[in-house]
Amino acid sequence: MKNRYSLLIIVLFTLVSCKKDNQENFGKSTDTETTKKISGQELFEGKGNCVACHKPDQKIIGPSIAEIAKIYKENKGSIVAFLKEEAEPIVDPSQYDIMKTNFAITKTMSDEELQALEDYIYSYSK
Ligand code: HEC
Repeated sequence: MKNRYSLLIIVLFTLVSCKKDNQENFGKSTDTETTKKISGQELFEGKGNCVACHKPDQKIIGPSIAEIAKIYKENKGSIVAFLKEEAEPIVDPSQYDIMKTNFAITKTMSDEELQALEDYIYSYSK
């Protein structure tokens, strides 16, 4: 009788620990999904500090986000390529030298991050 109980306990314990494993893995996969979702706005206002020179509708040091979006849309340009310094400036080439200093930051960004920035800028096109 005693032995049967121990066997039962062992079986139960194994079941419980299997279940716990599954739950842990499940938790992990949702974690990676949330980190994968990169917010262009967060990059623009945070790490990239683009907001220091680019405001939504108003030109300050750099052209407004809306103007950049409009010109890139009209010219079917690639903001990602521009931020990698692989494409020429098309918005305000006379001020390009000021923008160029930011490539030090944008070149450390992944393609996903640059794409998120591009999507964020395009969200201002009308
Ligand atoms: C120090 C001020 C400054 C900061 C910070 C800055 N920019 Fe700019 N940006 C400019 C200026 C000035 C221009 C206009 C020159 C030009 O068009 O290249 C410009 C132009 C641009 C353009 C248009 C380029 C083109 O084709 O002419 C894009 C896209 C852009 N910036 C994106 C960004 C992003 C993304 C960030 C953040 C990672 C950023 N900028 C940070 C000053 C800045």
